[in-house]
Amino acid sequence: MSGAAFDTIAALVRSRAGIVLGADKAYMLDTRLGGLMRAEGFGNLDSLAAKLRSPGTERLAAAVTEALTTNESFFFRDGKPFDHLRRVLPRLISARGAGAKLRVLSAACSTGQEAYSVAMVAESLGLLSRIEVVGTDLSVEVVRRAREGVYSQFEVQRGLPVQMLVKHFKQEGGQWRISEAMRAVARFETGNLLADLRHLGRFDVVFCRNVLIYFDAPTKTRVLSALAERLAPDGVLYLGGAETVLGLTDRFTVIEGERGVYAPVGSPKQALAV
Ligand SMILES: C[S@@+](CC[C@H](N)C(=O)[O-])C[C@H]1O[C@@H](n2cnc3c(N)ncnc32)[C@H](O)[C@@H]1O
Repeated sequence: MSGAAFDTIAALVRSRAGIVLGADKAYMLDTRLGGLMRAEGFGNLDSLAAKLRSPGTERLAAAVTEALTTNESFFFRDGKPFDHLRRVLPRLISARGAGAKLRVLSAACSTGQEAYSVAMVAESLGLLSRIEVVGTDLSVEVVRRAREGVYSQFEVQRGLPVQMLVKHFKQEGGQWRISEAMRAVARFETGNLLADLRHLGRFDVVFCRNVLIYFDAPTKTRVLSALAERLAPDGVLYLGGAETVLGLTDRFTVIEGERGVYAPVGSPKQALAV
């Protein structure tokens, strides 16, 4: 692959998704784009890049971007945020009053494990009827899979306690389908974190984990500011283990002793002490 081809593809993915592909990632283009190139009749990355430089290639550009996303996810990933959520949900629900539903955003939700983990936590607290989870992701394919809620044996073995598997999944052939009760509270849609997020409404809890790591600092700041606008003043933001707000935004404050858990600046004291 020529340097020009790499530059074209890297610039495309950066402008469409915010994803920064360093030159050290050039090796992965062949693997990640191989299937798409064969399906679209491109013999190599140079011819694909040349096509992308011509007008009228929106569909191809979207497919290339999607193929270069990393969609790794698993149930109850990192554990701690879900322990924190278990403590914070009752407080938030009582603050909202009878009848109100708590809204949870799983931003960059991938194949839905994070959103369904939230639903399982709410169910274990007897609060399933009091929450609504919205999952969004740039990738059409992962959103389709999240909606379907069907996971392989390997996927359910990663992070999901066996009691939860037995309680909330049904075996279908060699796969596991999540229960209708969990699907009923989780809704999934395609969405780009770089786009306007206002149509999603306000959330009480935002998960935005393991996606900021792919962005440069200005993009991280932009996404964190957009999420701050979507979060209730006493709400909670969860980031991934390798992510932080420090040095990027003054809209969130670190919750002491809780790795990866943040509150909006000016949040009432009780929001921080759970
Ligand atoms: C590594 S997965 C993280 C999944 C889940 N949040 C977790 O922590 O397990 C990253 C996801 O971010 C999505 N993504 C990347 N750039 C995005 C963007 N600009 N807008 C929305 N989603 C994006 C990818 O499609 C991918 O599914």
